Amino acid sequence: KEIFLKDYRKPDYLFDKVDLQFQLGEEKTIVTTKIVVSPGVEGSISAPLVLHGCDLKLLSIKVNGTELKGEEYTVDSRHLTVSTPPAGVFNLEIVTEIYPQLNTSLEGLYKSTGNFCTQCEAEGFRKITYFQDRPDVMAKYTCRIEADKTLYPVLLSNGNLIEQGDLEDGKHFALWEDPFKKPSYLFALVAGQLGCREDSFVTCSGRNVTLRIWTPAQDLPKTAHAMYSLKAAMQWDEEVFGLEYDLDLFNIVVVPDFNMGAMENKSLNIFQSRLVLASPETATDGDYAAILGVVGHEYFHNWTGNRVTCRDWFQLTLKEGLTVFRDQEFSSDLGCRTVKRIADVSKLRIYQFPQDAGPMAHPIRPHSYIKMDNFYTVTVYEKGAEVVRMYKTMFGASGFRKGMDLYFQRHDGQAVTCEDFYAAMCDANNAQLPHFLQWYSQAGTPTVKVSSSYDPSSQTFSLKFSQEVPPTPGQPVKEPMFIPVAVGLVDSTGKDMPLTSVYSDGTLQTLASDDKPVFTTVLQFKKEEEFIFENIPEKPVPSLLRGYSAPVRLDSDLSESDLFFLLANDSDEFNRWEAGQVLARKLMLSLVADFQQQKTLVLNPKFVDGLRSILRNTSLDKEFIAKAITLPGQGEIMDMMAVADPDAVHAVRNFIKKELALQLKDDLLAAVASNRSSEAYMFNHNSMARRALKNTCLAYLASLNEPDVTELALHEYKTATNMTEQFAALLALSQNPGKVRDDALLDFYNQWQNDYLVVSKWFALQATSDIPGNVVNVQKLLSHPAFDMRNPNKVYSLIGGFCGSPVNFHAKDGSGYKFLGEVVLQLDKINPQVASRMVSAFSRWRRYDENRQALAKAQLEMIVSANGLSENVYEIASKSLAD
Ligand code: ARG
Ligand code: ZN
Repeated sequence: KEIFLKDYRKPDYLFDKVDLQFQLGEEKTIVTTKIVVSPGVEGSISAPLVLHGCDLKLLSIKVNGTELKGEEYTVDSRHLTVSTPPAGVFNLEIVTEIYPQLNTSLEGLYKSTGNFCTQCEAEGFRKITYFQDRPDVMAKYTCRIEADKTLYPVLLSNGNLIEQGDLEDGKHFALWEDPFKKPSYLFALVAGQLGCREDSFVTCSGRNVTLRIWTPAQDLPKTAHAMYSLKAAMQWDEEVFGLEYDLDLFNIVVVPDFNMGAMENKSLNIFQSRLVLASPETATDGDYAAILGVVGHEYFHNWTGNRVTCRDWFQLTLKEGLTVFRDQEFSSDLGCRTVKRIADVSKLRIYQFPQDAGPMAHPIRPHSYIKMDNFYTVTVYEKGAEVVRMYKTMFGASGFRKGMDLYFQRHDGQAVTCEDFYAAMCDANNAQLPHFLQWYSQAGTPTVKVSSSYDPSSQTFSLKFSQEVPPTPGQPVKEPMFIPVAVGLVDSTGKDMPLTSVYSDGTLQTLASDDKPVFTTVLQFKKEEEFIFENIPEKPVPSLLRGYSAPVRLDSDLSESDLFFLLANDSDEFNRWEAGQVLARKLMLSLVADFQQQKTLVLNPKFVDGLRSILRNTSLDKEFIAKAITLPGQGEIMDMMAVADPDAVHAVRNFIKKELALQLKDDLLAAVASNRSSEAYMFNHNSMARRALKNTCLAYLASLNEPDVTELALHEYKTATNMTEQFAALLALSQNPGKVRDDALLDFYNQWQNDYLVVSKWFALQATSDIPGNVVNVQKLLSHPAFDMRNPNKVYSLIGGFCGSPVNFHAKDGSGYKFLGEVVLQLDKINPQVASRMVSAFSRWRRYDENRQALAKAQLEMIVSANGLSENVYEIASKSLAD
């Protein structure tokens, strides 16, 4: 059943107070829910009270203490309806029985490695009890947990612990009270055998907050970095946004089985292990950075999500786009801004652009959904963050802060919409940007075309902008969007020119006064517009969309030599990287065409020279260098082709890699040698940048498959003292099929077989491999004793990993498609959310040649016609087939 944003109606009833009681057991769990119900604001007289429910056994239902008779309510597979509830405030009491030990969907209350835990967002609370399970129903909760004391010594829920004690039969209880109103999706419960790392944080107003990270005891040493991250996040949110934590206790619990990354339940965040547990020996720099970002993200939700929440699920980007933006800024401030920006933009290009151009394309605020879980997407999250970033680009850091302050001032304790955020931003800055709201309702990545011209006689420089927003499912025709383009003009010596004034649409805008020169300005345009800069003494090279000021595809008339010039000179480091990427994309596309016409491939020597000078430039940040010499991904190139050709793109990318390795070999070897270090592992930008550069160079070298580089990689592998370097060396060694690869993989497994997170990496490394015919290996790994279909992490590593190798997933013979088709159906029986994420790999089947199309389509058809298919998978598969 499809649900539409336009059908939103306020709830008929409000829940003022919710008291939950859990009797956790091995065979069954009993949930008693007492709710104080009051009529909705609209005061709809005696509307039926419709409660959501899923997989529940109803034991009893009482209104004001009296058991309801059969004819007074109805129950179907999704609802419990009380036909004529009393007028005014009343007490509702419902008892349900549930079976968490059998719940493999990892939604609602379930067990993971013997412990009880919950995941309620988006609509999992209805698997615990009958409830108006929607975010605009906000209530104060208490939660009493009873369980066996030896099996479940630790009992946690939201808020403050107000009572605990022993009960008969070896049981005990804990009573928690959350003083803040919250929607049901933020409810959480954890019970089990857990140890904790404890620390504390004193807030700016002097509140002493106890911080606890809970894991199985043996993993406690691996929680130091997460604790560091949490404290850094608390500090940062105070400094940057003036936002302070609001309770005396903050808990993080680690569980191995979890569908998503983590969850921001009020004061009881729950994380999948990968995003908390780290030690230098077992986690890479990438893992450390992900932990910092996600611990920050979930913590930041306390204000953007919890204190101010969403009116309905269509508004998801209100909290997620904003919170992703906040975690990006946090990681930037703690690390290196340019490098973080490059990583975030790459992620957008690699994952979000294809989504926005395919059958699942949706605006950051979707208009409809069948299953909300399918809309926790890179569009809602990452493009949503870009939309938030545009406010900051337009209003500046202080204007953005004013908008945030006003947002909290107006909406603390409320469930609101994206318009409310927009209004706070505009009102705080005395601005009106009605067209900006298009970003919330129109899908598709706009293409911005720019042409430039210089007029020496009038000393003016003109930039002409136009845009096109492509059609997407359900939106054939688009309105033009409001796009902020940050621009600088670079003179022939490589310096930014001072920008004094710009003329457009009949008005002259003064940009700078004498004492404060301006080098970057933000041009805002809809439709078509020309901007004319005055007092420009020589022909500049424009640096457009600095810092990637809007989530668009830029199509400019810059020449190849302009791009090489920007790569060497732009003061905006992001655009320096970008110039290299544009060059590389053009180069790759033209080589792909050559490859398809069976021409001999030749690498443009200017490109090699450009990368060589980056590699040799000691004044550049090392991680920046690593990013600048990394080629755009295969997907990015396929995305730009009329018919995606994975074999050609793969061949070309490998050709360029090898050719660069050959021609830059001495520089690459020197970079590996000079970036070795015997220092103990440190999580700081400089050390990570050094490792990133070394590892990137090693990967290039390994593509040569020559004895001396194999020796080198083996040496790196054996002498590595941290996972970042060990894994990079393993990756290098495993690039080429053969005994060296097999031995290295076996050695690595033997060393780490008892660490399930490292074993997941080992699965992923093999799954994503581009070596020919890899589907057979992946098939084998499915029955490896360490693999487990019920653990999402392992599924994402092995099956998700496999789909990340275009040559193998899109193998001509259809073996990759067949493999995924079968796995999806198997997974769907266990965990629909995970199955649906996997089936998404099929969604862009129309991008390939006819032969591949037929093979992929056959799998999708097989999937949609399967008996008992979940709504989750049905939505993705059927929308992928629709045209
Ligand atoms: N709110 C969580 C986060 O981004 C994501 C949880 C989503 N879970 C789900 N089953 N859809 O921080
Ligand atoms: Zn989030």
